[in-house]
Amino acid sequence: MEYSISLFLSLLLASSFIYFLLRSRRRLRLPPGNLGLPFVGETLQLISAYKTENPEPFIDERVARFGTLFTTHIFGEPTVFSADPDTNRFILQNEGKLFESSYPGSISNLLGRHSLLLMRGNLHKRMHSLTMSFANSSIIRDHFLVDIDRLVRLNLESWTGMVFLMEEAKKITFELSVKQLMSFDPCEWTESLRKEYVLVIEGFFTIPFAIFSTTYRRAIQARTKVAEALSLVVRQRRTESEKGERKNDMLGALLEGDGGGGGFSDEEIVDFLLALLVAGYETTSTIMTLAVKFLTETPLALAQLKEEHDAIRARKGESEPLEWNDYKSMPFTQCVVNETLRIANIISGVFRRAMTDVNIKGYTIPKGWKVFASLRAVHLDHEHFKDARTFSPWRWQEQNNSGAAGSGNFFTPFGGGPRRCPGYELARVELSVFLHHLITRFSWVPAGEDKLVFFPTTRTQKRYPINVERRHVCKPCKQ
Ligand code: HEM
Repeated sequence: MEYSISLFLSLLLASSFIYFLLRSRRRLRLPPGNLGLPFVGETLQLISAYKTENPEPFIDERVARFGTLFTTHIFGEPTVFSADPDTNRFILQNEGKLFESSYPGSISNLLGRHSLLLMRGNLHKRMHSLTMSFANSSIIRDHFLVDIDRLVRLNLESWTGMVFLMEEAKKITFELSVKQLMSFDPCEWTESLRKEYVLVIEGFFTIPFAIFSTTYRRAIQARTKVAEALSLVVRQRRTESEKGERKNDMLGALLEGDGGGGGFSDEEIVDFLLALLVAGYETTSTIMTLAVKFLTETPLALAQLKEEHDAIRARKGESEPLEWNDYKSMPFTQCVVNETLRIANIISGVFRRAMTDVNIKGYTIPKGWKVFASLRAVHLDHEHFKDARTFSPWRWQEQNNSGAAGSGNFFTPFGGGPRRCPGYELARVELSVFLHHLITRFSWVPAGEDKLVFFPTTRTQKRYPINVERRHVCKPCKQ
């Protein structure tokens, strides 16, 4: 009896909800689309597509039926999905005016309210520009490059036999982030911090209720441990900074209250660091792994890249560190980096919420609705990139390729507007240095089949195991 009443009430609620949507659609002229089943909408179709190597049909079918701006219902809410570069640009540029960022509850709880990803308004502006100034080209050139080179080499030195590339890349990018943010070299403390981080990140895509999800419960506990560990460091560094000792890292800038507007509390600094570590660690290690995967599957590109890096190494001693000029003389590497970012789409798109009714392309996005600006859909659209679904780094050498030259609108792996990724240059440098040392030191073959999947995050199912072998590069004899 109780069951029938609740079923009846659910159906009543669902049909009123759909009736309301259809009415408002007539009034507001929503983009065309399909809201799917009550409550779940089209979420299950989206998840099952993104759990395969080829999630494209989910978007392709809807674009073919409704156009590049369509309505769907995913993750519990009606959502306007954009596969259109102009609309994406409009959404990203109007951050804080017409749209605001909107993350699922699980991510917001785990990151903490003072993380850059969740900040809004003037504080966001100030902290975004502080982060940009911390990760700009001259800081990377003058301070970070030497550590990036050293830590990548140090990690590769221990590689023999079979390695899980995704695991190794994660270790490298975590060590780099901790160094850049807090000046710590790898040690037991950094490794135990990383293990807690892994648990925090696992909680990102779960139901944000501790009673329902063990993963989420574990993630919350790990978050507390990470925050405690970071608080200790912040307290210690604050004491040192009061004595006039300042380190040239992100924590130093935060303790000084750089960027104007006064200092920050310990809690604010901890949330901020915690989120920066997440943002830089997971993304860059995935792009490292996928670059190697795509190169392995495209031997011509790998051979051309090898030539470029062997030539750089031949000019230098075997263990001489890379310098900025070396980084700047890797044109084909930059094509590989672009192409990996384009085709892998680690961040497949960004969620926003409309702050008011927004009119675009003859439709209305109602106030409070979610929008998803799909970067992936544009990157993989044959209209914008010839043979868009093939890994072809050479496209970036062709000036006339509509995706390469003047690619601002079409190529946006780092987002755009006021929330554009502040780590875009750092990620490129880290990937380039990693590829240099990997390619000049090792040859490798995949140690078994592995599959790329895109849900809950972009990754390979088996952490991409490879068998590595040291290369003995013959240096040309000096005359
Ligand atoms: C391949 C590597 C990376 C990719 C593909 C990537 C991608 C992105 C994208 C698409 C956004 C925009 C999110 C939005 O608009 O809601 C973003 C934001 C962000 N990224 Fe990255 N990122 C990468 C590496 C890094 C690194 C190394 C850092 C470290 C400094 C970093 C720090 C951030 C931060 C703090 C934000 C939030 C910015 C804000 O909300 O104002 N990212 N990233």
